Amino acid sequence: MNELQQVLQTALSQMQEVNSLHELEQFKARYVGKQGAITAFMQKLKDIAPADRKAFGAEVNQVKGQFEVALTEKKEHLLQEELNNKLATEKIDVTLSGRDAGRGSLHPVSLTLNRLVKLFAQLGFIVADGPEIETDYYNFKALNIPDNHPARAMQDTFYTESGNVLRTHTSPIQVRYAEKNTPPIKIIAPGRVFRVDMDATHSPMFHQMELLWIDQGISFANLKGVIIEFMRKFFEDDDMQVRFRASFFPFTEPSAEIDIYFAKTGKWLEVGGCGMVHPNVLNYMNIDPEKYTGFAFGFGIDRLAMLKYNITDLRLMFENDLDFVSQFKGC
Ligand code: FA5
Ligand code: MG
Repeated sequence: MNELQQVLQTALSQMQEVNSLHELEQFKARYVGKQGAITAFMQKLKDIAPADRKAFGAEVNQVKGQFEVALTEKKEHLLQEELNNKLATEKIDVTLSGRDAGRGSLHPVSLTLNRLVKLFAQLGFIVADGPEIETDYYNFKALNIPDNHPARAMQDTFYTESGNVLRTHTSPIQVRYAEKNTPPIKIIAPGRVFRVDMDATHSPMFHQMELLWIDQGISFANLKGVIIEFMRKFFEDDDMQVRFRASFFPFTEPSAEIDIYFAKTGKWLEVGGCGMVHPNVLNYMNIDPEKYTGFAFGFGIDRLAMLKYNITDLRLMFENDLDFVSQFKGC
């Protein structure tokens, strides 16, 4: 009996040293587990004289009960301690000011596109759209570029296995829109275009915007007026010089390439092509060339963005470098 009390006293004093729930589990096993010190007394019961067994059993049970009550208290104490620790270390100060998530910025191509759409909306143009994977018909044939015509070599084309093309320019949107609508037609059509092309001023994927205005009595004077007005507004320079250089496009006649003069560099730079819509193309559009005329204009959005924001290498536009893109905050 004495021995049993001694075990209990040792257990209770050792329990004070236990510092964690994990340790407490191990400690518990040392006393009331299968090989535990208190359990061992239970196993001694069969060796006790029958007359003393009842009292001995009651005593062991009582000790065991005392041990378990102490154990439960200790466990609650440890749980509370753990919670207090958590509350102390994971404290959130709700009065602190918030962490700044950092403001994003639009890509220079998006910024330019937004400006373009706004400017042309002021001139009465609406936005039209078309697919990036285009049929040979819309990308070439309906633009007066028949099979085997040398003009096909003007643009190095990506073909799909099924015989479609990645559109090489935004001009197919002209035909798609004019087929379904009747004059007056006044649209702009921005989008991605693709060519087998790659250097500091050429990218295999770039952006163009097409402009088409068809109505009665539209002339080259209208074309020049709109384009010059647009360039001056876009570059915020009322004296900007715009040059129309005679050129060739199968879908326009006459045709011109548009250069703008940069006083900063003293250089003329080509930004796009334009011309009066070819009568063959008007026929593909189901528009009577005897009654209507129109002009079209197509230019590189990325080129305009480079000029506007002084970007020297076109490839920077497509590398998704945050240091580059975030320079345009607030533009
Ligand atoms: C055309 O694509 C004609 N569809 C434009 C047109 C429309 C003419 C309507 C007449 C009437 P061009 O291939 O020249 O034309 O391309 C037009 C502009 O796209 C160029 O002036 C240039 O600014 C831009 N561009 C052309 N190739 C690339 C390229 N690889 N990377 C970036 N910009 C390019
Ligand atoms: Mg060109």
